[in-house]
Amino acid sequence: MNNSWFTLYINRYVESLMELVEFRDKKSDDHKVLSNFIDAIVKVRNRHHDVVPTMAQGVLEYRDSSKMDPFINQNIQYFLDRFYMNRISIRMLINQHTLIFDNNNNVGNPKHIGCIDPCCDVVDLVHDAFQSAQMLCDQYYFASPDLKLTQVNGKAAGQPIHIVYVPSHLFHMLFELFKNAMRATVEHQENKPSLDPVEVTVVLGKEDLSIKISDRGGGVPVRKIESLFSYTYSTAPKPVMEKNSTPLAGFGYGLPISRLYAKYFHGDLNLCSISGYGTDALIYLKALSTDSVEKLPVFNKSVSKHYQTTIEADDWCVPSKEPKNVSRQTAAA
Ligand SMILES: Nc1ncnc2c1ncn2[C@@H]1O[C@H](COP(=O)(O)OP(=O)(O)OP(=O)(O)O)[C@@H](O)[C@H]1O
Ligand SMILES: [Mg+2]
Repeated sequence: MNNSWFTLYINRYVESLMELVEFRDKKSDDHKVLSNFIDAIVKVRNRHHDVVPTMAQGVLEYRDSSKMDPFINQNIQYFLDRFYMNRISIRMLINQHTLIFDNNNNVGNPKHIGCIDPCCDVVDLVHDAFQSAQMLCDQYYFASPDLKLTQVNGKAAGQPIHIVYVPSHLFHMLFELFKNAMRATVEHQENKPSLDPVEVTVVLGKEDLSIKISDRGGGVPVRKIESLFSYTYSTAPKPVMEKNSTPLAGFGYGLPISRLYAKYFHGDLNLCSISGYGTDALIYLKALSTDSVEKLPVFNKSVSKHYQTTIEADDWCVPSKEPKNVSRQTAAA
């Protein structure tokens, strides 16, 4: 890929790395060094603030200017999954460090340990994320579905559901899934006098904290489910990037990035859809903090091999009109 956006980001990353490497041999008990380190990582965080929309714009430009084949699509997916997983981790470390050690600018919640909430109220977060998505949905469609929530604490019946988690990560996943569920509901039920609610079920089990978000938005054919997680698939019109405005949908990043957030602490995010009816989105998180360890990509020989591996021919004779891994926009058309 020779796009200017790609070169720009490689340069920015190298620049940031060089700035941080300078601290490697400095004394960590010197207050001045510590405060300079905090300034440096805050600068790095700010510099990379707009990475996601800019990369998304770059991928769109690349897709529009060249012929995307399944091989390139597979490599972009592989690269971006690993790139964004690293970004989630780096930002988490920067936030954690600044929230704990930056005494001059401590705006964190006193009950949190850095950005981790040891007693994260999952149902509260569901309400917050739902409200935020609802506001956006109302702005776009002048209508939005309501929330119907069921909670089951399978460990301590009747007790509120709490886990140790990073609330901003869970909020991100819920907000993205709610936006999708609302958009599908409003667009599918435009001729109905009232909209069916989005049903949310929160269940705490021995190992998993599961959240199911069910909509009656008409669903998606099973053939398309995996492509919904591709960074180049969206059925929404291309968003116009304006300051102070958040698009309801458009880049095709909601699902893949939310799945990375879930996977980051060894959880998962799946979609299960009934075409013609609606979609269930399922978030699985580890209920025990001891299982919620970081999951990061490694860089070894199999990584470079991955970029050279061509998609093997199918070993089943199933005549299909549409090739496997077809680009998202083509599939959406
Ligand atoms: N609940 C749902 N019901 C029906 N289709 C859905 C649902 N969730 C996602 N989709 C389909 O999957 C596509 C990709 O979703 P995704 O959230 O990744 O991107 P997006 O919503 O198009 O844009 P954004 O990056 O702003 O979220 C959507 O454009 C939509 O066609
Ligand atoms: Mg979305």
